[in-house]
Amino acid sequence: MKIAVIGSGIMGNGIAQVFATSGYQVILVDVSEHALRTARDMIDRSLTKLTKKNLSIDPLEVLSRLSFTTRIQMVHDADLVIEAITENIETKKRLFQELDELCQAKTILASNTSSLTISDMASVTKRKDRVCGLHFFNPVPLMNLVEITATDETSDETLQFAENLIKQMNKESIRVKDTPLFVVNRLLVPMISEAIALVEEGTASPTDIDKAMKLGASHPIGPLWLADMIGLDTLLHIQESLFVKTKDSKYRVPELLRKMVSNNELGRKSGKGFYKY
Ligand code: NAI
Repeated sequence: MKIAVIGSGIMGNGIAQVFATSGYQVILVDVSEHALRTARDMIDRSLTKLTKKNLSIDPLEVLSRLSFTTRIQMVHDADLVIEAITENIETKKRLFQELDELCQAKTILASNTSSLTISDMASVTKRKDRVCGLHFFNPVPLMNLVEITATDETSDETLQFAENLIKQMNKESIRVKDTPLFVVNRLLVPMISEAIALVEEGTASPTDIDKAMKLGASHPIGPLWLADMIGLDTLLHIQESLFVKTKDSKYRVPELLRKMVSNNELGRKSGKGFYKY
């Protein structure tokens, strides 16, 4: 089976890595050569680290199953294409339309979006029964859950296919209706936003807020550490689109988040966010 992943950023390279580790041939596509080089380095480093814990992984063998390209035409015969590009609905819709024209009839198209609706992306295709959400978590090689999202038109065969695939990778899945943020982020995003508001108000420092949630609520990592891992630009996109869609004040964007993103303080990926890397 051939899997294609579009977008080789934080999520795309992790998704490509776990499929290749499970024995699939994977094509990773990005518009940026630089992003593809970074993705290859990140996968290489991650596999080397994992090898220390799991001797059955052979990094060279896994890397040999991966190809990196800027040519989207290479995905035409994939069985599954997972989109993990920038969180922008117009860009994603353009990509889904292109994939629908390019790919064979058998190909299932999936999106890793955190906050956009799968039915919006499916609406520009002629294969609405073969479109679903596959929402992985960051860092993909370590996080065991995948939320599988179904629109009203996603077929049972597509969902079964997705569930079997996730099981074969030794991950767990849950089925979720196509609603903004699904389950995990619906609970997490308002918490992260409140943590940013606490920093903005000067109520406590990022380190103390994270310490509070680790020791006071038994969370394995604090909300601001998590925000830096997710990427502050991605969080900003998520909150902005949710606020526009719902007008719900729990998705109001803290000014501090906007300011940090415009200063290129995006978290881990830019070397600085609430912490320095
Ligand atoms: P990112 O900003 O790290 O990477 C996005 C990549 O997509 C970049 O390398 C960019 O060059 C590439 N790209 C943009 N437009 C493209 C196009 N038309 N064709 C091919 N490549 C294109 O983003 P990240 O954080 O990996 O997020 C990707 C998706 O995953 C988003 O939909 C986000 O909501 C979702 N997601 C993010 C999580 C996170 O923790 N960052 C967690 C779960 C889902």
